[in-house]
Amino acid sequence: MDKLKVCVIGTGSISDFHLGSYTNNPYVELYGVYDASIERGKAKAAQFGATHVFSSKEELFADKNVEAVSICTWNNTHAELAIFALENDLHVLIEKPLSMTYAEALNIQKVAEKHQKVFQVGYVRRFATNTKVLKSFIDDNKLGDIYYAKASCLRRLGNPGGWFAEIDKSGGGPLIDLGVHVIDICWYLMGRPKVKRITGHTYNQLGNRNHIENLSFYKAADYDATKNTVEDLANALITFENGASLMVDVSYTLHALKDEISIKLYGTNGGAELEPELKIVSEEHNTILNIHPQINDLTFDFATAFQNEINSFVDCCLHHYDSVAPLEDGVEIMKILEGIYISATEGKEVVY
Ligand SMILES: NC(=O)c1ccc[n+]([C@@H]2O[C@H](COP(=O)([O-])OP(=O)(O)OC[C@H]3O[C@@H](n4cnc5c(N)ncnc54)[C@H](O)[C@@H]3O)[C@@H](O)[C@H]2O)c1
Repeated sequence: MDKLKVCVIGTGSISDFHLGSYTNNPYVELYGVYDASIERGKAKAAQFGATHVFSSKEELFADKNVEAVSICTWNNTHAELAIFALENDLHVLIEKPLSMTYAEALNIQKVAEKHQKVFQVGYVRRFATNTKVLKSFIDDNKLGDIYYAKASCLRRLGNPGGWFAEIDKSGGGPLIDLGVHVIDICWYLMGRPKVKRITGHTYNQLGNRNHIENLSFYKAADYDATKNTVEDLANALITFENGASLMVDVSYTLHALKDEISIKLYGTNGGAELEPELKIVSEEHNTILNIHPQINDLTFDFATAFQNEINSFVDCCLHHYDSVAPLEDGVEIMKILEGIYISATEGKEVVY
């Protein structure tokens, strides 16, 4: 079988996981890279063995050998690049968030409908081992109807700076960057119900706090702390058409004792914590059971999840499978994220 020829667009921090995972996949030829910084593109091509370094998107899309792309660029370029890729008949794996706005997401969907290509959104948590294990319990009805979920992703110090902190390049702060992951994973495990009402709040109280010393954190490839136009905390209550609800809070910086990630789901037959460690709650013979699955990775296994995500994308491209994280899910999550920002700005509930 011919190998899938893949290019990675945007060779900053997260691209390492795409590039590394493609090189580990025996059915992929890592054909090329393209970054607005040609030096960075060249360095990553050399590091991971990509054979072509493109110097513009036009040059990349003109090369008819390319079959699929990973888009790992700033959020404000996602929609444009995704549409270019689709119009050039390429399969697309796009990093989260799908776009900056719901309108952009709908534009991508309109173009995708005309091109029968694989389009996968980078909801990497769907591919984590602990998620897959929990999903198998949920599919077997062990949780029953999930009517409540709660997700937190709180960084006490973790504004990545650079484009992440400029709203016109990112579309928002921790909500669009971190909230996208935890909202998606809850929504996916809850059975992807349609959103009905949203109440959200955002706060911009602490800035990026780059004066703090002796504590390291994730930084954009072009780290710069001089501009900060995004929220540092967001919270929301999201209610779905089936009556289920999801409570979420996320921060880039907060006077919290420690960083915290927690994802909890509660159903009619049982409950579960996906993070910080997979645990399942059940009831049998009038007794509550806390179940501790015996698996290697009880928490999010970053590198394995990325490898699974890439392998799944490649399988979809080569064998025409349906994606585990399809475009329509990216569009629905953009609707939710935007709804939270609208509710926060207008100071009232958004009803659909
Ligand atoms: N799945 C995850 O867990 C995860 C984690 C971090 C980042 N991300 C997402 O990945 C994307 C990139 O994030 P990052 O942390 O790697 O950022 P980064 O700043 O480290 O890297 C982005 C790269 O994109 C390049 N770039 C920007 N616009 C471009 C364009 N129009 N054409 C070509 N290159 C361009 C920049 O030069 C830079 O090298 C973002 O959408 C982010 O939300 C996902």
